[in-house]
Amino acid sequence: MKRAKITVVGAGNVGATCALYCAQAGLGDVVLLDTPRAGDMPKGKALDLAEAAPVLGYTSNLTGTTDYADTANSDVVVVTAGVARKPGMSRDDLLSINAGIVGSVGEQIKATSPNAVVIVVSNPVDTMVQRMCDVTGFPHSRVIGQAGVLDAARFCCFIAMELGVSPEDVNAMLLGGHGDSMVPLASCSSVGGIPVTQLIAPDRLAEIVQRTRVGGGEIVNLLGTGSAYYAPAASTAKMVQAIVRDENRVLACVAYCDQEYSVGGYYVGVPVVLGDGGVKKIVNVDMTLEEKALFAKSCDAVRTNVANMQKVLEAPKQA
Ligand code: 2OP
Repeated sequence: MKRAKITVVGAGNVGATCALYCAQAGLGDVVLLDTPRAGDMPKGKALDLAEAAPVLGYTSNLTGTTDYADTANSDVVVVTAGVARKPGMSRDDLLSINAGIVGSVGEQIKATSPNAVVIVVSNPVDTMVQRMCDVTGFPHSRVIGQAGVLDAARFCCFIAMELGVSPEDVNAMLLGGHGDSMVPLASCSSVGGIPVTQLIAPDRLAEIVQRTRVGGGEIVNLLGTGSAYYAPAASTAKMVQAIVRDENRVLACVAYCDQEYSVGGYYVGVPVVLGDGGVKKIVNVDMTLEEKALFAKSCDAVRTNVANMQKVLEAPKQA
């Protein structure tokens, strides 16, 4: 069987950790790419990962490069390139700088891997996916963002901690943008099949929902420099797996919605069927009235961000 070719753009913490998880899961050969300014760093990280293979027992080929020619004809390209936020910053503060970076990465992907499924991780992700789609011109099904798997993982983790149960037995779903207005759906979350609303009192559940919304910021503040990477990388690798193994997983991803959820042509977090070729279907969820109102607010935040990005891109460049 042909091995999948997975390129990870950005050899920083998220990118390198994602490369490790993809190799460990045997998802395919991994090319780790960074900008020429990084010098031999991506080669060094890829070699370090290759040297871990005899210990960890994986057989993926790992290559580091600064040349997109080495990524040619990738099946999946994960984009982690861009600046991470610092304490006190929101993901939206990265919009201007990351729109430029994601735009130039998109041009290269279009030229070298025209059939790839692209998973954008760079923030603010809902807007950066739109940018990637605009630049590559790839179908919406092949350009998606990572957010919901991570946010749902955080929600599951906090529920498991609260109840003292295995995180494996917790299932959760989230909708909306990957910002503090995201909508963790308590109504669609369960523990061993039991609705979480039967196990945790409403006030306490509301606190857990709020902690999930600001979960990324909690890690940024604890780290002091940079943002989370183990959970974001694991979440991204889970998406890569769903695609290269055609698993048809139902996962919350940043996907393009037009009629769906009456979003009107924007990328937002919704449950999708993810498999070979990317998004096969957007899954509809019945929300409570309160959840619907929160989802509408979260979509408004995404629309504002996209409009702000257009302004930034159209503004004349300073000499
Ligand atoms: C997070 O939520 C980096 O956006 C990512 O941690």
